[in-house]
Amino acid sequence: MSSERTPKNVARQSSVFIGVLSSVAVLVVLRVSDSLNLWAISIIVGVVLEELSYFVIYNAIENYIDHRIQILYKTISKVKGGGDLTINMDEDVVELANQDVMEWAEGQIEEINLLRETDSFRKDFIGNLAHELKTPLFNIQGFILSLLEGGIDDPEINRKFLSKAEKNIDRMTRLLEDLDSISKIESGAMNIELETVDIVELSSEIAENLDRKAKDANIQFKIREEEEFKVLCDPNKIRQVLSNLLVNSINYGVDNGKTKVRFYDMGDNILIEVDDDGIGISEVDLLRIYERFYRVDKSRSRHAGGSGLGLSIVKHIVEAHGGNLHVRSTLGTGTTFGFTLQKAPIGKT
Ligand SMILES: Nc1ncnc2c1ncn2[C@@H]1O[C@H](COP(=O)(O)OP(=O)(O)OP(=O)(O)O)[C@@H](O)[C@H]1O
Ligand SMILES: [Mg+2]
Repeated sequence: MSSERTPKNVARQSSVFIGVLSSVAVLVVLRVSDSLNLWAISIIVGVVLEELSYFVIYNAIENYIDHRIQILYKTISKVKGGGDLTINMDEDVVELANQDVMEWAEGQIEEINLLRETDSFRKDFIGNLAHELKTPLFNIQGFILSLLEGGIDDPEINRKFLSKAEKNIDRMTRLLEDLDSISKIESGAMNIELETVDIVELSSEIAENLDRKAKDANIQFKIREEEEFKVLCDPNKIRQVLSNLLVNSINYGVDNGKTKVRFYDMGDNILIEVDDDGIGISEVDLLRIYERFYRVDKSRSRHAGGSGLGLSIVKHIVEAHGGNLHVRSTLGTGTTFGFTLQKAPIGKT
């Protein structure tokens, strides 16, 4: 007989044990049976056998379950961090173990899915990044080659090609700066230095800096400057937020469009809204615009020089300030981005 602890072997060992014990029991009963009748003998043998079988089978099952399930629990508890199982023979132990294993398996599946997602996110990120760097690099290469092949001696085109190459270098530099911001924010290395800032004044200053770009696109900035709104923020970071939103309103605006910056007192916070009457964003795209490298219309954004990192930086910065960012948009009508910043305590300058 094999000594492996299979259910069949457990049954066989138990029955051999019961067989031996019952032979002994029958012998004992027969030895004292002279004074007993047949009924009494059969009742005694029945009861003794029943008790013996119960004892043997109970222990065999307990032993078996304990041995096998304990091993199972030890395997899953490595992940669950749980302890050992105490076998309670009044419960459906196998069913309980089954439930625990199912629960553990679900946890494992979730973990695997998360790892897969992270992996595909990483692959996408590298793919996008390579693509974003490749485009301007190829452009620069093209302009330089044309210059080398004689263009440099042609006063009509040499400056034009050099200036185009310079624009592409500029695009790469901006991309690398954006990536640097994102990686700093995500690794928690971004230092937010809170100051009391008049957000209206800061917005006007940024709008003024973008005046040339806005005029070129025939877009007008309107900022309500009558009141001052003091907020607690890192002015350099919020400058990045406002300029990203304002540049977007130019890039995705329409001819003769208007971009309004408005401020609302919300009690503890100030809400800042950048509202445009541009091309708008569809409902489906609205769900994805904060993703890194996401652009609604690749060709148009390419024309506008965007790499799809702006809004993801905006979101990170606003959230690092404890504020929240939201957007409302209708295709063909316009878009409104809003974010909140904590009000500066009164009396603080
Ligand atoms: N005000 C807006 N109106 C319409 N579409 C917008 C607006 N702002 C953003 N979008 C859409 O969301 C996309 C993501 O914007 P985001 O600012 O993140 O990237 P980008 O402008 O393409 O590039 P950059 O990294 O230079 O900002 C844009 O490509 C554009 O399609
Ligand atoms: Mg942008």
